[in-house]
Amino acid sequence: MTDHTFIVNGQSVTVDVDDDVRLLWVLRDVLGITGPKYGCGINVCKACTSHVNGKAFNPCSVRVADVGPDDEITTIEGLPDTVGRDLHPMQEAWLEHDVAQCGYCQPGQIMAAVATVKRARAEGREITDADLDEIRNVCRCGTYNRIREAIKAGATRM
Ligand code: FES
Ligand code: FES
Repeated sequence: MTDHTFIVNGQSVTVDVDDDVRLLWVLRDVLGITGPKYGCGINVCKACTSHVNGKAFNPCSVRVADVGPDDEITTIEGLPDTVGRDLHPMQEAWLEHDVAQCGYCQPGQIMAAVATVKRARAEGREITDADLDEIRNVCRCGTYNRIREAIKAGATRM
């Protein structure tokens, strides 16, 4: 076992786990942060989508040894704090569009949505349908149309 230190939702944490343990299990089982969901464990379903240093990533496929003390991980639990509000504007849009069905994929969908909007803005533009087509998060309940509407609405408030 080895100590690993990184930042989660604004707080520095240190965990004592083997180097090869994937970050998703550290978040969920060691730190009790269960917003990132487990679906496939092999970077396909995207249910675990969170942010590392502001960009979308999938912690099921990252070893805990591959993050360091300066890496900032944000999960759905910490998303509102990034804008200093009770809910992030993308979460508000999600509620207004009544997106969720079973809900399992939804934290990952929202994290992917926010990262997609931020990436477009960093490139000096707004999101397009092509950007939305690139979001690969699986929804077994088929809420894709509402997801797209909510992302467009949420983007106007970010
Ligand atoms: S659980 Fe991480 S991509 Fe499926
Ligand atoms: S809402 Fe059920 S998997 Fe997406």
